[in-house]
Amino acid sequence: MEILHSIVVILHLVGFATLFGGWLVEAVGKRRITKIMQWGLVIALVAGLALAAPWGLGEPNYAKIGTKLVVVIVVGALLGIGGARQKRSGSVPAPLFWGIGILTLVNVAIAILW
Ligand code: HEM
Repeated sequence: MEILHSIVVILHLVGFATLFGGWLVEAVGKRRITKIMQWGLVIALVAGLALAAPWGLGEPNYAKIGTKLVVVIVVGALLGIGGARQKRSGSVPAPLFWGIGILTLVNVAIAILW
C-alpha cells in the first residue's frame, strides 16, 4: 500500500512538473496556453484526488486538500478561459496567464508549508 501511495505521489509531482514546466517555457516565450499545461493539470488533479482517499496511512488533512482543490479549479478555469481568448484573439490576457503560474506555486506552498 505504501509503495502504491508513493507511486501516486510521484505521478502527482509529474503532473505538477508538467503544468509548471510548460508554463515556464511560455513565460519566457510567447505567453500562450498549451496542451501540455492542460495535461499537467489533469494529471496533478487525478493523482491528487486519488491521494485524498483514505489510504490507512494517517488521517488526511481535508482542510488542506480542499483548499488545494479550490486553487486547482481556479487554475483550470484560467486555462479554460485563457485558452478560449487565445483562440479568439490570438493572445492570452496577462492576468490570466500570470495567474496560472502564481496559483500553481501557491498550491506547492500549501502542499509544503501547511
Ligand atoms: C497544481 C496543483 C497541485 C500542486 C502543485 C500540488 C503539489 C503537491 C506537492 C508538491 C506535494 C508533495 C508534498 C507532500 O507530500 O506533502 C503534494 C502532495 C499532496 N497533494 Fe497536491 N498539489 C496540487 C493539487 C492537488 C489536488 C487538486 C489535490 C486533491 C484534491 C491534492 C492532494 C494532495 C495530497 C493528498 C498530497 C499528500 C500526499 C501524501 O500523503 O504525502 N493536490 N501536492
